[in-house]
Amino acid sequence: MFLRRAIPLVLSLSVLGSIADNLRSDLALPGVTSLFPGDAAYANASRAFNLRFTLEPVAVVYPATPQEVAEVVKIGAVNGLRVAARSGGHSYIANGLGGENGTLVIDMGRFTNITVNPTAKTAVIETGNRLGDIALALNDYGLAMPHGTCPYVGVGGHASYGGFGFTSRMWGLTLDNILSINLVLANGTIATASKDINPDLFWALRGAGPSFAITTSIEFSVYTAPASVIIFQYNWQLDVAAAAAALETFQQFVVAPDLSPKFGAELVLTRGAVVGNLSFGLTGAWHGDPGLLNGTVAPFLAAMPPLHSVTLTPGNWIESVSALGGGNLNTSLAPDYTDTFYAKSLMTPEASPMSLAARTSFMNDVAYAGFTTNTSWFFQVELYGGANSKINAVPVDETAFVHRNSMFTIQFYASSFNNAPPYPEFGFTFLDDLVDGIIANSPKDWDYGAYTNYMEDKLVDYKQLYYASHYPRLLALKKTLDPRGVFDFPVGIDD
Ligand SMILES: Cc1cc2nc3c(=O)[nH]c(=O)nc-3n(C[C@H](O)[C@H](O)[C@H](O)COP(=O)(O)OP(=O)(O)OC[C@H]3O[C@@H](n4cnc5c(N)ncnc54)[C@H](O)[C@@H]3O)c2cc1C
Ligand SMILES: *[C@@H]1O[C@H](CO)[C@@H](O)[C@H](O)[C@H]1NC(C)=O
Ligand SMILES: *[C@@H]1O[C@H](CO)[C@@H](O)[C@H](O)[C@H]1NC(C)=O
Ligand SMILES: *[C@@H]1O[C@H](CO)[C@@H](O)[C@H](O)[C@H]1NC(C)=O
Ligand SMILES: *[C@@H]1O[C@H](CO)[C@@H](O)[C@H](O)[C@H]1NC(C)=O
Ligand SMILES: *[C@@H]1O[C@H](CO)[C@@H](O)[C@H](O)[C@H]1NC(C)=O
Ligand SMILES: *[C@@H]1O[C@H](CO)[C@@H](O)[C@H](O)[C@H]1NC(C)=O
Ligand SMILES: *[C@@H]1O[C@H](CO)[C@@H](O)[C@H](O)[C@H]1NC(C)=O
Ligand SMILES: *[C@@H]1O[C@H](CO)[C@@H](O)[C@H](O)[C@H]1NC(C)=O
Repeated sequence: MFLRRAIPLVLSLSVLGSIADNLRSDLALPGVTSLFPGDAAYANASRAFNLRFTLEPVAVVYPATPQEVAEVVKIGAVNGLRVAARSGGHSYIANGLGGENGTLVIDMGRFTNITVNPTAKTAVIETGNRLGDIALALNDYGLAMPHGTCPYVGVGGHASYGGFGFTSRMWGLTLDNILSINLVLANGTIATASKDINPDLFWALRGAGPSFAITTSIEFSVYTAPASVIIFQYNWQLDVAAAAAALETFQQFVVAPDLSPKFGAELVLTRGAVVGNLSFGLTGAWHGDPGLLNGTVAPFLAAMPPLHSVTLTPGNWIESVSALGGGNLNTSLAPDYTDTFYAKSLMTPEASPMSLAARTSFMNDVAYAGFTTNTSWFFQVELYGGANSKINAVPVDETAFVHRNSMFTIQFYASSFNNAPPYPEFGFTFLDDLVDGIIANSPKDWDYGAYTNYMEDKLVDYKQLYYASHYPRLLALKKTLDPRGVFDFPVGIDD
């Protein structure tokens, strides 16, 4: 808040230099590595997942204990710096590096303990862990939790803003399963938050976490892993009218009162075989009795045009997580990749399904602009709601995450040619025009939102779209807990 405004005034080279000199000595904590601009390992340590962003943190620091995190936060605050934690570094807009230059970055990579209590079905997970490693560690006990598919995503960011996977209709979002959180506040105080301890903070951390604290470990409820899983992929080649109708067919299918929560799914839209067509897929995972998948999907298939192809992949729980994650869950065994991309999201209200005009505008852009654009793109219509969804069973005011009435989270994702910089201007307009077209063809009072884990740097009305009615309460809490804006970053809670 105040800091963001003050910082541009002090960003002269000489001042940056003296900040760096102070920092070098302040950060010389025993056992804590810090990397500064010019250090050999700095370029790699400060590289964003999304190469659309090149950022220069004042330092990247690797503490190993909550006490060391607290020390580093205090050092940042004393030096008038913004401080950001990085867990998996998969923020779409490089907010794990603070999203702006000159941030003091605390890399949580040494916080990798996972302590499972199989009797209580809980797990304390340190926030440097990645989703793939968490799935493996829980699976050793026959346990599991809901989360997204990319093994390299960090639990620190993921659990702050949501955490959607194909088990979420059955088990909720990642953040819905948080029991308690160990954390460091903006003034360097080490604290805990749960429904009984610091309940306001506990509320805020589940939906807007990075604006309030650095979490060091999180206690989750975990579940007995499903006995078997079938990953399904049904595919069609459709023209615009058929695709707009198919999306309506899906909207009707998912509200049938008996739709099982063990059905997790998304529609996947990709480039069609010819201009004017698109590839329309229904993909997901079935976590129930293997004999019951076909009957579950039958009403949808019956109302659709003839299938182009079907792939059903049965397996056990961890095989399904691995297959959805690209084959390897142990993130120590292979390096992560990078991308250069722009992404947007739209959360559609269950009470007001997408209109024919909105669906037609959407599919028209997919089939025409999508065919000719020189980007590689995919769109996913993720099923959050529908009948019997655990996500929407949570009362709206229970967590800062506000979207408890969404049918879909639609993700629009476009990468540059060869996934390398520079990102082309037409990549922005392709997605912006597409989303604007959907909104322009929807009711004026359409109660849509956006998903904070698919964070956008260019989203003007982000307060409404990410936080909606919860923004005022979040802002009041921010003024109490972080008045100097130590944990500020683009599109956070800050004025
Ligand atoms: C390839 C890919 C696939 C994805 N798939 C899914 C999916 O299936 N489902 C889904 O829901 N989302 C998905 N996402 C989005 C993902 O959930 C978010 O990008 C998430 O915020 C990344 O978390 P991170 O810890 O890896 O990122 P980071 O960049 O490390 O952090 C993201 C934000 O959280 C903050 N933060 C990180 N750690 C902490 C901490 N310990 N304390 C406080 N703040 C912290 C950072 O400062 C930053 O603001 C995907 C993203 C990518 C890149
Ligand atoms: C580069 O950084 C990543 C984490 O961001 C780390 O896993 C990897 O070991 C680093 N590589 C080198 C060569 O330092
Ligand atoms: C951050 O600094 C780098 C290197 O100087 C520069 O290329 C980049 O544009 C800056 N980014 C922002 C957001 O100011
Ligand atoms: C992490 O686990 C190791 C081994 O179980 C243990 O020695 C260490 O104390 C743990 N660290 C924390 C911070 O709990
Ligand atoms: C990942 O592989 C490394 C190296 O073989 C191993 O030490 C580690 O225990 C594995 N992690 C998990 C979560 O299985
Ligand atoms: C294009 O879509 C139409 C109508 O859905 C379909 O009949 C046709 O086979 C598709 N064309 C190709 C090349 O897939
Ligand atoms: C389910 O349907 C698929 C085709 O969609 C078929 O190949 C498979 O045999 C069916 N499974 C059962 C158990 O009937
Ligand atoms: C796409 O963009 C790349 C990079 O600018 C360029 O090399 C390539 O020729 C373009 N392809 C088409 C089909 O325009
Ligand atoms: C740090 O902030 C918390 C929350 O506002 C407050 O309770 C605590 O007293 C503060 N600690 C110090 C040392 O100022």
